[in-house]
Amino acid sequence: MKTRRQVIQGGAAALATLAAPRAVLATFRGYPALEARAASVQLAPEDFPETEIWGYDGRLPGPEIRLVRGARLERSFVNSLPQPSAVHWHGIRIDNAMDGVPGLTQAAVPPGGQFDYAFTLPDAGTYWYHAHNRSFEQVARGLYGPLIVEEAAPPDIDREEVLVLDDWLLNPETAQLDPDFAAPHARSHAGRLGNLIVTNGRYDLSLPVKRGERLRLRVINAANARIFDLGLSGLDGWIVALDGMPLASPRPVTESFSLAPAQRADLIVDVTADQGETADLVHLLREEGFSQVAFPVTGQAARARRSPPAALPANPNMALTGLDTAHRARLYMEGGAMGGLRAAKLEGRRMSFRALARANHFWAFNGTVGMTDTPLLAVERGRAVRLEIHNDTAFAHAMHLHGMHFREIGGGGAMGPMRDTLLMLAGQTREIAFMADNPGDWLLHCHMLGHAASGMMSWIRVTA
Ligand code: C2O
Ligand code: CU
Repeated sequence: MKTRRQVIQGGAAALATLAAPRAVLATFRGYPALEARAASVQLAPEDFPETEIWGYDGRLPGPEIRLVRGARLERSFVNSLPQPSAVHWHGIRIDNAMDGVPGLTQAAVPPGGQFDYAFTLPDAGTYWYHAHNRSFEQVARGLYGPLIVEEAAPPDIDREEVLVLDDWLLNPETAQLDPDFAAPHARSHAGRLGNLIVTNGRYDLSLPVKRGERLRLRVINAANARIFDLGLSGLDGWIVALDGMPLASPRPVTESFSLAPAQRADLIVDVTADQGETADLVHLLREEGFSQVAFPVTGQAARARRSPPAALPANPNMALTGLDTAHRARLYMEGGAMGGLRAAKLEGRRMSFRALARANHFWAFNGTVGMTDTPLLAVERGRAVRLEIHNDTAFAHAMHLHGMHFREIGGGGAMGPMRDTLLMLAGQTREIAFMADNPGDWLLHCHMLGHAASGMMSWIRVTA
């Protein structure tokens, strides 16, 4: 196994970029500020120049926001970008008005503007926040950060690490972002895949550990389109939560597991590698294993090894009832390269796939490209919804529902874990169900952000 990779190629350019330091706004109108602004960070190896990014508070990832379940999050978003923006709090079962979706739940915040976000955090877990305007560009430029909601009684661990995964599409000479965020080829295929893979903004993240230590790893996939296939080496691990929500029982990591864009996994791992060795969170890529995060073992933990971890405490309102009388709907996903889509509606007009492609649109939900005037489904609050999703395309998609978590209905009616993002592989048909218990208008879209921008975007309405 290679323990380090430098996917970025080519020589270092001589020019260094200049970072203009700015005064950090500590508070704004009484709420702590979260400022989106341009910055430069050392993303590529040291012999490359710094990369110009957009980051919250100029950082990559943005500052960690950490609160306890039931607390109120209050942040004044300050937009110092040259584009309108808004902040989406991904995976939070949030008050609709705070969901951060321009055109659906709020107006986009113009350059120089601000918006106060204030809401209660109903669930413990690993969440994240990110820009939701031109997200195919703004998230690719670095506008995201972790949002951690602690359990009132946290699990028995020695320490915790938040690991935000991303891949960057950089010019191999200058280490600057490839500026073609809307590239038709990426949009019509697997999305914008990067050439530099990082964790917490570092291509070589290394976290010293002790043998026998028990860690909680909160892994967040913030990439535009990359599905991370992950494994463990020198670590014994269990997945204890997915997309923030605790599993009923911890699932041992025996082989690899996938993390689609926007998905999160909480792991509890015990360091089993010996002193002097290096344990790894392994990223599997084309049958090869790379070190996503290295954990060099520098000593021995005081405590002996423990028994497998217990389940995390359940969050409230995880029950799903009334499936027999559920509101039922279907979603057909079509389009993309090598797909069978001949024509679809765009803004009420039927257009051929060729004409759509010329307008840089490639995907359709139920025969329509992008947002519709009427929701995909409208349902009264309190009712269960069953949604059958058909991925009739040649690509994988990461389907994300705002505002509510769902469960997959598996074979024989078995219910999967609660999630907010579902990885749909090419050709798959899957069924999800959720309680429509959060009133408002909620997006349902592919979290491969170029796909969302070129057609894979829909919404549902829960009436009060
Ligand atoms: Cu994480 Cu609609 O997004
Ligand atoms: Cu997609």
